[in-house]
Amino acid sequence: MGQERAVIATVRRARGLEGEVRLPGDKSISHRALMLGAIAGGTSHVRGLSTGADVASTAGCVRALGVEIDDGHVKGVGMSGLKAAAGPLDCGNSGTTMRLLAGLLAGQAFESELGGDQSLSRRPMDRVVEPLTLMGARASWPPLRVGGSPDLHGIEYMTPMPSAQVKSAVLLAGLYADGTTEVIEPVATRDHTERMLHAMGAEVHASPGRSAVARVDRLEPLDLDVPGDLSAASFWLVAAGLVPGSRLRMTGVGLNPTRTAFLELLRRAGFAISVSAEGETGGEPVGTVEVGAATELRPVTVEGDAAAAMIDELPVLAVAATQLPGTSRISGARELRVKESDRITAMAESLSAMGADIAATDDGWVIRGPRPLEGARVDSHADHRIAMAMAVAGMIADGDTDVAGADCVEISYPGFFDQLAALA
Ligand code: S3P
Repeated sequence: MGQERAVIATVRRARGLEGEVRLPGDKSISHRALMLGAIAGGTSHVRGLSTGADVASTAGCVRALGVEIDDGHVKGVGMSGLKAAAGPLDCGNSGTTMRLLAGLLAGQAFESELGGDQSLSRRPMDRVVEPLTLMGARASWPPLRVGGSPDLHGIEYMTPMPSAQVKSAVLLAGLYADGTTEVIEPVATRDHTERMLHAMGAEVHASPGRSAVARVDRLEPLDLDVPGDLSAASFWLVAAGLVPGSRLRMTGVGLNPTRTAFLELLRRAGFAISVSAEGETGGEPVGTVEVGAATELRPVTVEGDAAAAMIDELPVLAVAATQLPGTSRISGARELRVKESDRITAMAESLSAMGADIAATDDGWVIRGPRPLEGARVDSHADHRIAMAMAVAGMIADGDTDVAGADCVEISYPGFFDQLAALA
């Protein structure tokens, strides 16, 4: 899309956000439900799947591999029922689709090629090729080709970077491998794959930073309500905290402890967030989250290993930090440079354009606040999380903030701007 023809969303200062937020289904859980449902021995029933384009990419790929998906009903074909697709699998903008499918397809008797859009084509896939090759799979990149040499063997793999996508790719390949496949991580990452496999009857051993699976002959189908996406909720948590007079409520939100570090960080910064547990669905805790405007704010520090547990929330954390008194330092987040865009540069440029005091570092930002923000024209870099983070910045800025390329919110949060209009 040319810059001139980009879809522009204009955001104005909000006078108080109020009401019940409608969240999309958790994206990570939705991807996994479709992929694991595809190889289950029966039909899975999955309610509340993410309606975003990323999960549609996974659905498209799974269908191309011969699996019927109809309105959240996934007709599993069993462990060895997938069929070679007629052409390259289109993973769109979705790193999760490409990396997890690479793992799932590594142990198949046929070869698959996986492609995607411009952003995805630039993202590193050697991080999955390497462990899959160690397991005896045929795998190469670029372009990403996997499978066709189905005799995999288990490995013990230490991931060089904290990545649930890499961990999950290895575990999914492990379902097809002889012996045990174990992943050891430098920092524990989200464990949705492990929880779902457990719910489907696989032999999984998981403790923080260590996950192991054994080969399986059959996975039980899923019957699952996908929780609301806490990463999508993070935009509203920051917006409601910063816009005076706000009060927002979200129910059925996924509260998996590997995903809640951002909630705790905001609380330490003085945000008024309350959480009440509702129960569990498919082995995932869910609850209600309420947020009101913050009163006494403090700066934040994210350092060492901490960034991994809130990697998707860091763009909107940068927005929050512009309003926190003192110096906020976010480091250890080098992975942000290889997301849908270089999120460190994108946020530093856009927030600077709005008058924030933000300096990009190699692996994060140093942000001094509070600084009043002024509306500006900013670019989404075709990155959904940048577009939504900058919309939050627009809600606390003077004048108009034009977010160019705003349609990319469809990737994870269709209707985000309608929600904004309804709540503001
Ligand atoms: C995801 C893992 C994270 C996250 C992405 C979804 C997943 O990526 O940023 O949005 O579903 O496993 P990495 O594990 O590569 O950091």
